[in-house]
Order: sequence, then C-alpha cells, then structure tokens
Amino acid sequence: MCQYNGHFVYLAIFNYVIKITMRVCSIIGYKGESLAAPLLVTCLQKMEYRGYDSVGIGTINDGKVSVRKGVGRVEDVDSTLLLRILPGRIGIGHTRWATHGRVTEANAHPHTSCNGEIAVVHNGIIQNYSQLKSQLLMKGHVFKSETDSEVIAHLLEDDYKETGDLRGAISNTSKKLAGAFSFIAAFSDGTIAGARFDEPLIVGISKDGYYISSDVVGFLNYTDRAIFLDNRDIVILKGSGMEMITFDGAPVVRPVTQVAWEFGGIDKGTYAHFTIKEINEQVETIVKSGRGQESKIEEVSEMLKLAPFIYFTGSGTSYHCALVAKNLLAKYGKRKSDAIVSSEFQYLVNDIERDSVIVAISQSGETADVLEVIKKAKTLGSKIISIVNVPTSSLARLSDVSIHMNCGPEIGVAATKSFTSQLTILYAIVDSLSGGVIGLEDQKYKLQNAVKELVERQRLIEQIAEEIKDVKDIYVLGRSIHYPIALEGALKIKELSYVHAEGIPAGELKHGPLALIDRNSCILVLNPNDSTFDDVKANAHEIKARGASLIGIGNSPSDVYDRFITIPEMDEVFYPLLEVIPFQMIAYYLALEKDANPDYPRNLAKSVTVK
Ligand code: G6P
Repeated sequence: MCQYNGHFVYLAIFNYVIKITMRVCSIIGYKGESLAAPLLVTCLQKMEYRGYDSVGIGTINDGKVSVRKGVGRVEDVDSTLLLRILPGRIGIGHTRWATHGRVTEANAHPHTSCNGEIAVVHNGIIQNYSQLKSQLLMKGHVFKSETDSEVIAHLLEDDYKETGDLRGAISNTSKKLAGAFSFIAAFSDGTIAGARFDEPLIVGISKDGYYISSDVVGFLNYTDRAIFLDNRDIVILKGSGMEMITFDGAPVVRPVTQVAWEFGGIDKGTYAHFTIKEINEQVETIVKSGRGQESKIEEVSEMLKLAPFIYFTGSGTSYHCALVAKNLLAKYGKRKSDAIVSSEFQYLVNDIERDSVIVAISQSGETADVLEVIKKAKTLGSKIISIVNVPTSSLARLSDVSIHMNCGPEIGVAATKSFTSQLTILYAIVDSLSGGVIGLEDQKYKLQNAVKELVERQRLIEQIAEEIKDVKDIYVLGRSIHYPIALEGALKIKELSYVHAEGIPAGELKHGPLALIDRNSCILVLNPNDSTFDDVKANAHEIKARGASLIGIGNSPSDVYDRFITIPEMDEVFYPLLEVIPFQMIAYYLALEKDANPDYPRNLAKSVTVK
C-alpha cells in the first residue's frame, strides 16, 4: 500500500508544468502466442515517426509486471536497456514526444500503480489531472513521474480495489478522465484493456493474437484486420477472448475493417532517408492521386458548385494546399472561397454561414486543430468534404465525402508527396467543376515527366545547399498562386534544416522586409513564365541592388540570379505542383549539410493530435 508523500507544496509548480505539456505519442498493446517484447519494439519503431523522445515497454509474465523505459530513440534505448528481452506474451509499449516539460526516464511510459500490478501507456492530455492527482495523494498514492498520464494507473488501482471488478474499474476510471485520451492498461492477471476518447485507438486481429494501437501502422506488419474503436469505447482482452463495452458498461459491436496492405510496406528501400524516398516517389504519386475516385471528385465538384459558401482548411503544409486551392477555384472555377488555417478557424467557425461547405485537407486525418473545426461545423449544419491520406482516419469518418490521396504512407515528418497528392486532387476537383478548363488528365504524363526531371536535378540542388549552408536567413518570394508555394518552401527549410526562412508575397517586399536584406541574406524567388513574371523579376533586381544572393526558380534563366533552377515548360496552371519540389530537395540537402536528421526534425511530430 502506498503512503501519502507530503509533497503538496510542489504540486502547484508541478501542475503548471504539466498543463503546458503536449504529447503526440504512440501506444501499442499485444496479447497472443508470440513473445510480446520483441514484437512491441518492432511495432514502436514503425510508429516512431509520430513522436520519439523516449520509449518504454511493460510485459506481464507469471503474474508479474516488468517495465523498462528510457530517453532516446527506440533503437538506442533497446540497445542499452534490452527492452526486447522482457519476458511474457502480453505487453504494452509507448513512444513519447513532448514540446514542453521534461524528457526524463521517470516521465517515459509505462507508468505503474503503487502496488506495481498495473502498467499504463497513454496518448493525449488528461485535463483534470491535477484534481484527480490531489484526490489520489489524499488517499495515500505516491507518484513517481511529473506526467498527467500516471493518474490513470493509480485511478485503476483505486477503482479495482473499490469494486473488486476489473471491468468496472476500467469503465469507472475512463469516466473520471476529462480531455482527449486513449490509454492501454496491462494487469498482472494477464488482462489488457484499452479505452479512447477523442484520440484514436484501433484493435488489430491476427492469427496469433490481438493488438491495440494508436495507429494501424503499428501492427500492419502482422495483420490487416482492424477494428476502429469509437469514442467512449473500451476493449478488454481477457483469457483468450475479446470484449467491447462503452464507458457505461454496455456491450458494443464494431465492424472489422480490412486495411490496405500497402501501409505495411514501410521501409527506406535504397534511400538514406524516408524524406528523400518520398520526394522521389512523387514521380508516381502525382499520377496515382485521385485515381479510382472519379465519381467522388465529381460529387465534390457538384457540392462546391451549389455551395453558397466554401471554406478550405488545414494545418501546416495542408493549409498551404488550401491556399493554392482557393486561388485555383477563383481563377479556373470562378468561385469565391476562403482558406483559413485550422488553429484559427476553430474560433471563427461558430460564426460562419450554416449551409457552408468545408473542405478539410489533412495527410493524417488526425490533426486535432482540423478535427476541432470539423466537429463544431458539423453541429452547425455544414457539409464536410475531406482530402486525407489515411482513409480510416477520424477526419475521413467524420466527413460527408472523403477523397483518399492514395500516395502511400508518408513517414518523413515534413510533408512532401502528400502535398503534391492533395494538390493534384484539388486540381481534379476544380477541373471537374470548370468543365475541364485545366485539362489535368491530358497533362498527367507530361506532369509526371516534369517531376522526374526535377528530382533528377539532385547535383545542382546539393551544390546550392552547400553554398547557402551558413546563411542565417532565407526569404522566399512569390506572387499570386506562387505565394502559398513560397510559404511551403520556407516551411520545409525551417522544418528540416532549422534555418530561419520566411515566405513573403514578392510585392510586399518594399513595404517592410526590404529593410532586412543585405549581403548576408539569401533570397529564393519564384519567377515562372506567367502573369507574375515581369513584376517578380523587377523585385529580384531590387534585391540584387542590395547585394543579397539570389536563386531563381522558373522557366527562363536570367543574369539577375546567381543560381537558377529550371522548371520544365508546362501550362502555367501546373507550376505550383512543380515548383515545390526544388524546395523539398533544398530543405533535405540543407538538413544533411547541417547534420540534422531530415526524417525526424527536432520538436516536431508527424501528426499532432492535441491542440
Ligand atoms: C504537423 C506536421 C506538419 C504537417 C501538419 C499537418 O505539424 O509536422 O508537417 O503539415 O502537422 O498535418 P496533416 O496530417 O493534418 O496534414
């Protein structure tokens, strides 16, 4: 039995630290015939792209819970702590990612109850954690970590003691938690249970056992049969069976889904990193996007034709895609719309017109900011269209119509092929809506060749990266439809190489940013042959006069540029799709110059499932 530890004084400071702690973690559980620990290590490695500052595993063997955990990547912690030798055929695992709060061994999961008979892994945030912790401390529980997650282990212990019923304990504990969470608990009697509220949790059913995971990628090497739990669902693996109930204890049945096997084949192949592999894959994905979904594309274009109000939304790279979409729709579809970044849109969404159509763009389909907008908008009567890469994601399931990007798993944290895929689908939608003004289908193979030509410019891009590796500031300029690409180009450089980079509408240069430009600045200029050509070139001259180094990206090289990356000639509407590729490559090679790991940029996570 644990004792009151008398540390109330420290709680206030402690609670503050926890309140600003945000996590995008991966959780996994296994119960079956195989040894759990080596399997869980492999599953965690597959999911590491979601978060990767610490890792831990807990297994059950002969009625005993064993836990090993540490700070670092899965591979490193496994080689020092030998996670994979933990005994037993039942276990849970976790990788953690934190932007605030300490990264320590104690804060790594699993967390255990005082009696050491329950181990818990958690993804999300327990908002009422401090009240729960105070109550548990009063009852004599001792906490070993600074996390909100640990309350779950102690609550389960308390509820189990009170009710004497494991099933009741799991549902009581789940009901006490506020916030967005999914957790998996392993009990010394060999039971594993998972519960979810507003964070994904999926059960995998294989020949030799069951998996519970925050991400299908976790178990796809072993099975493609999955059950997607709904909010307030609990799954309990006891003995050799599986039971599903709601937080209120009522039995529920959820359908078994067959997940595309393609998601299982995640490896770097002959490439040094996933990021460069995914950049190269665009030669294929650009033609695959939208294939087989022609009727949905038509349905969406009809919805947009009839919609009184249209909003595009997304986060990060997906938001930049939304900005291009707004431009395309105005120019080629003659329809007005707005593009609002999701983290801001959530404060406006209550005030939008009730019959709006919202097009949500998200690679993962799990970004919390995007889901927040969609959930609010749905209650107000908006129609939801989504473009996602994970067809079973929360966003896809919340949408009236969802189009699949079909570009295969994207593991590099910085979005590359998903951007060009989502954009290609938006071209197809605008094309359908405008009666074929863009002519995407006829141009697809020309587009594919152009992408191929661009990814083959590796040598030139490597030289450019080498030349600019010491610059402190990079500015990316573009006008009109190229401005969102300037934003995306700057984002890629920031994410991968940690160099300060800003996307600026070229016409705004004279209204402020010009003051920053001197001999030490590096300016990348989007200067393709279209209506923006002359104005952008004039801007380039203004910069040249201030001594900065200039790299042009376009179709017609000019003396004003120190370096020039030529974009293959195509109908001008397609330039945004092509221009982004040199930026992805510059960012990648700049990361290598700086000895940064391009696949796993510091402090970032692939899918941010918390606000
Ligand atoms: C995170 C990633 C970004 C990504 C954004 C949106 O912030 O680090 O690279 O663009 O999420 O992700 P989504 O899955 O919604 O497209």
